[in-house]
Amino acid sequence: MGYRETLLEPVKIGARTAQNRFFIQPMETNDEDETGDPSERTTQRYEELARGEAGVVCLEAISVTRESRARDNQLTIMEPNREPLRQFVKRVKSANPKTIFIFQLTHSGELSSDKFSRRVTVNPLYGYGGDLLTEDEVDKIIDDFVLAAQIAHDAGADGIDMKLCHGYFGSQVLRPYNSRTWKYGGAWENRRQFAFDLYERIAKAVGDKDFLIGSKISAWEGFPGGFGTDGPASPVMDLTEPLDLLRGLEERGAQFFIQSAGSPGITISLTQVDKHIPYYAYINQYWAKEFKRAVRPETVIIGSNFSVFRDGNNGLCAVEAKDSGLLPYGAKCVESGVLDMIALGRQSFADPLLPKKLRDGREGDIKWCTVCDNCLELLIRQTPVGCSTYNKRFTDLLVEQRKLHGKLQQAHT
Ligand SMILES: Cc1cc2nc3c(=O)[nH]c(=O)nc-3n(C[C@H](O)[C@H](O)[C@H](O)COP(=O)(O)O)c2cc1C
Repeated sequence: MGYRETLLEPVKIGARTAQNRFFIQPMETNDEDETGDPSERTTQRYEELARGEAGVVCLEAISVTRESRARDNQLTIMEPNREPLRQFVKRVKSANPKTIFIFQLTHSGELSSDKFSRRVTVNPLYGYGGDLLTEDEVDKIIDDFVLAAQIAHDAGADGIDMKLCHGYFGSQVLRPYNSRTWKYGGAWENRRQFAFDLYERIAKAVGDKDFLIGSKISAWEGFPGGFGTDGPASPVMDLTEPLDLLRGLEERGAQFFIQSAGSPGITISLTQVDKHIPYYAYINQYWAKEFKRAVRPETVIIGSNFSVFRDGNNGLCAVEAKDSGLLPYGAKCVESGVLDMIALGRQSFADPLLPKKLRDGREGDIKWCTVCDNCLELLIRQTPVGCSTYNKRFTDLLVEQRKLHGKLQQAHT
């Protein structure tokens, strides 16, 4: 089978079928309105992604409370957002009813901005800090997640990605650094209980077996005490806990996992591979393979960090460009059983229509991500986010920001 056929082959996820092997990553755009509802621009972005025909489109991180936001204009999913979210999903679904549309639910914990949110922590991390959470407060956070899942379901979403990655609250609780002896910390059995309780309570509250549930998980956060390390002060990788987590969540109804890595504020190149070290992406496929081996055959594993492979023009050595591009290499990962779907992050900003172009035989028209990471710079600057290479609105925004604040390092010192 050629790579086109492999990538356009449907795959079952729980009770649903994704049209092809493309998964659009959650990508924060910080472009929502002041109440956390999707703006017209947000809606148009997801309509375009739906028209792009990826098997699954995942909504950018949507915060379960206003006070747990990392971005000023981040989406929120609370009671007042219910009806606007319903209208939003309706429009995205009418752009293409076949695309599976899921929401990524999040709470930023110690990454909540102290300018417009409340920074909270399970155990203060050097350089971050925050108010120490009590057990009751964590119970309340679980309530907020459960309500958010119900709202997502009622709004018409096909499922949720319970975010357990990238240093946000879900991963803060899981990591060995959460060594405080309390209901949600210390022994692994306590740290994983937060995610287990969440899954059980969501399944019960939503009560719809067709509603998908899964998680994006950082296999290794890559700093002392981060998730996927062998102790509260050790950076050494150990997948025992991540793999145990997958099996436990699977028992509680998870039908898919998105493999990721790192905690961007600390270990950015693990989360988003830098174009100068493209071979770091290969490590992600090792983690995806370990995920795949740990779960049941029907559980779908989605691999991350594919944007850097581009059209083969990627700086990788010892392999021909025609084999190293995102499409041929991604298909090879699917064919060899490393993973089931490939996720597109930065590439989805560059060209939201990639899957459709491949299906229509217009591969030559695909706009390839240049991995310039200007989208990340826009996010850090708390402005709306998009592709500054192919969309003038974001080129202008970037130029204006740099004029106003200088280079990024200067803006932060
Ligand atoms: C601007 C920007 C926003 C992002 N927002 C999210 C997000 O909301 N949730 C998430 O899990 N990851 C987020 N990520 C990480 C991506 O989803 C993805 O894991 C990472 O970029 C690697 O994939 P890629 O190589 O295809 O870009 C973001 C990354 C960038 C650059």
